[in-house]
Amino acid sequence: MTRIWFFPFFFIALACGNPSIPSASLPSNEESKQTSGLNPNGDSELALLMRQMTDFMRQSLDSLQKESPLPKVPDNLQGLTTAEATEGMIQDRNHFNGFASLWLNKSKTLDTAQSLFTRREAYHSLQQSCLSCHSQYCQGPIPMIQGLSLPEN
Ligand code: HEC
Repeated sequence: MTRIWFFPFFFIALACGNPSIPSASLPSNEESKQTSGLNPNGDSELALLMRQMTDFMRQSLDSLQKESPLPKVPDNLQGLTTAEATEGMIQDRNHFNGFASLWLNKSKTLDTAQSLFTRREAYHSLQQSCLSCHSQYCQGPIPMIQGLSLPEN
């Protein structure tokens, strides 16, 4: 199941589109429309923020596993509720911002969690919150986000 993510089109697969379509099968005029970024649709402000959120999750996961202090939630992630998305992605900003605010609240819980146990719980809850928004808005990255799960131990 997870093996598909080792294909060379891994980065394209992070974008919202159907991850099962290899980039090589795109018509060449589609390919030439690609910008310098990872996303065939270009790099919206929100897409860039998402990559930063992904980095933050990776670093947090790594720190949790090493039982070392977690990175601070970058301040600019507060821009989640206002960042411009790829055209057509968000129809109803209020609906989107419900998920966004929940995520931001959970990130605060992680930031302030004291014990390793509560940090692990808060991380898990934050990851679930990534998934619940993605189940509504942008399904492509879901397998990657599931891959950010904290192993049981
Ligand atoms: C409030 C809703 C919401 C939450 C919460 C959310 N996402 Fe996203 N995510 C989106 C939307 C919408 C896009 C599409 C952005 C665009 O194309 O403008 C996206 C795009 C992405 C992308 C693709 C970026 C690219 O390069 O195109 C990745 C990767 C991603 N999210 C990871 C995550 C991770 C990891 C989390 C949790 C830390 C998360 N997302 C939380 C809504 C959300």
